[in-house]
Amino acid sequence: MINGIPTLEDLGDVSGKRVLVRTDFNVPLDGEVDDDGDHRRITDDFRIRAALPTIEWLTERGASVVCASHLGRPKGEPNPQFSMEPVRDRLAELAPGVELLENLRFDPGETGNSDEFTATLIEGVDLYVNDAFGASHRSHASTVGPPRTLPSAMGRLLEKEVDVLLGLRNQPKRPFVAVLGGAKISDKLGVVEALLDVVDSLVIGGAMCFTFFAAQDKRIGDSLFERDQVDNCRRILDQSSGKIHLPDDLVGVDASGQFATWGSQVPDGGKGFDIGPGSAAAFSDVIMDARMVFWNGPMGMFEDERFANGTKTVAQAMADTKAFTVVGGGDSAAALAQFRLDDDVDHVSTGGGASLELLENGDLPGLAALRGAPNT
Ligand code: 3PG
Repeated sequence: MINGIPTLEDLGDVSGKRVLVRTDFNVPLDGEVDDDGDHRRITDDFRIRAALPTIEWLTERGASVVCASHLGRPKGEPNPQFSMEPVRDRLAELAPGVELLENLRFDPGETGNSDEFTATLIEGVDLYVNDAFGASHRSHASTVGPPRTLPSAMGRLLEKEVDVLLGLRNQPKRPFVAVLGGAKISDKLGVVEALLDVVDSLVIGGAMCFTFFAAQDKRIGDSLFERDQVDNCRRILDQSSGKIHLPDDLVGVDASGQFATWGSQVPDGGKGFDIGPGSAAAFSDVIMDARMVFWNGPMGMFEDERFANGTKTVAQAMADTKAFTVVGGGDSAAALAQFRLDDDVDHVSTGGGASLELLENGDLPGLAALRGAPNT
């Protein structure tokens, strides 16, 4: 038991038991289902491999494992584009003999957290394991339903994620630096405020910096920003005790569509798409001097080589620093993989939204549900 949450050991003898394992196999897919019924291809199987320690722990002790996951966001009905078939094929290679249910979100009862759907999921099942860290911020039937009645536990991946992320939040090594990027501040407002209470520096890049610039009455040209968040950004800046670092140079395209570099103001008609080289170097210095770093969200539109420098420089600093480094899932994990630096950081989280919510609130619905399981 860790923090009131049962671990695999708390399940007792699993031999001969049928165990439902909620995994997060929401993997990136390429292509479309074609007329011949050929299915889509998995472009990164990281989340499938991440569930193997739990699956193997159970199968080696004689349990029969049935995995269940969502894939994409189908609208509560079967949709061949989101079929689990490609995942089933990969899972069969990595863990032969393990069953996998069809996409949980083909049934509206999953996101609706219905008791009927939970009952269908646990029919004939003896034990439940949640190893779907990336989905544990969702109060869905498969994440919170089974522990109401079944002896339950968190899997090894969930255990590791919680240990690392709550370690950042509750026992930071200083200087503790958070680097946040991505397009929208509205998605990250809560975590920005929570992080400001614990970090020594909060470095902000990505398009979200334009909403902060607007709050400072700077010119942002036609850059992406969120008008309705300007007041929130102003308040956050006022309360930040100088911990927030914003870029002081930018790159993008000018009004005629040509690549351009600016200071921290974008002229009329211009659009910023990345932090500039001076800011990238300054952000890198902050990361190099830290003892703990959390990074979530790219610094710019890194998919376009012209605007990849900021994200690449931050990724390289994450790889080079002696600090303990944690990367929140999603786009920043994809960027690390693109730059082949994913083996050079201490922990790459499998959860994007889940890692932010755990840092913000210190708990997740999927964890709270496990704390109430009958074997606790
Ligand atoms: C993720 O990819 O972050 C998780 O699988 C959760 O997916 P969702 O945002 O569609 O709930």
